Amino acid sequence: MTDMYDRVLALRALRDYQDQAIADDDLGRVLEAARWTGSSKNLQNWSFVVVRDVDQKARLADCGDFTDPIRKAPAVIAIVQEVDGYEFDSGRVAQNIMLAADAIGVATCPITLHRDADAAAVLGLPDGARCRYAVTLGYAVDSAGPANFGGRKPMDELVHWDSY
Ligand SMILES: Cc1cc2nc3c(=O)[nH]c(=O)nc-3n(C[C@H](O)[C@H](O)[C@H](O)COP(=O)(O)O)c2cc1C
Repeated sequence: MTDMYDRVLALRALRDYQDQAIADDDLGRVLEAARWTGSSKNLQNWSFVVVRDVDQKARLADCGDFTDPIRKAPAVIAIVQEVDGYEFDSGRVAQNIMLAADAIGVATCPITLHRDADAAAVLGLPDGARCRYAVTLGYAVDSAGPANFGGRKPMDELVHWDSY
C-alpha cells in the first residue's frame, strides 16, 4: 500500500486556515501540478487566476452560496474553463491541485461559484471563458478537522458489474 493511496483516501475539504500567507514555493508547486494535469486531447483549455487580494476574494466569494472558505483562505485558485474546455478536465485539475497541495502540507477546499457570470466579471475573463469552480489554499489550523458532511456510501450502492 503506497503513501499516495492512503493520502487519496484521507483527502478532505478543509475550511479553516492559519492567518499566514501561502509561501511562493508552495503556490508554485501546486500550480505546476495543475499545469501537468492531463486533459482531453491534451488541449489544456484551462487557465488559473490566483486570488490573494482581500477585496478581490470578497468579490469572488459573493459569486457563490457556500464560499466562506474563500474569505478565510490566504489564496484561492479560480479554475478558468477556456472556450471549448470540458468540465471533466476542470474537475481533474481541481483534484490534482488538491492532492498536490495535500502532499506539501497545504489544505484545500473546492468551491462552487454558482453565479459564474458574476465570477467572470469579477475575474475579468475574456468572452467565452467560464469559471464555476475554485480551490482555496491555506495552512490548516490544528482544530480544522474534517468538516465534511459525513462519510461515503457503501461500495455495494455504488458499484455495478457488467451492467447497472
Ligand atoms: C464540485 C464540488 C463543489 C464543492 N463546492 C463547495 C462549496 O461551494 N463550498 C464548500 O464549503 N465546499 C464545497 N465542496 C466540498 C464538499 O462539500 C466536500 O467535498 C464534501 O462535503 C465531502 O467532504 P470531504 O471532501 O471533506 O470528504 C465542493 C466539492 C466538490 C467536489
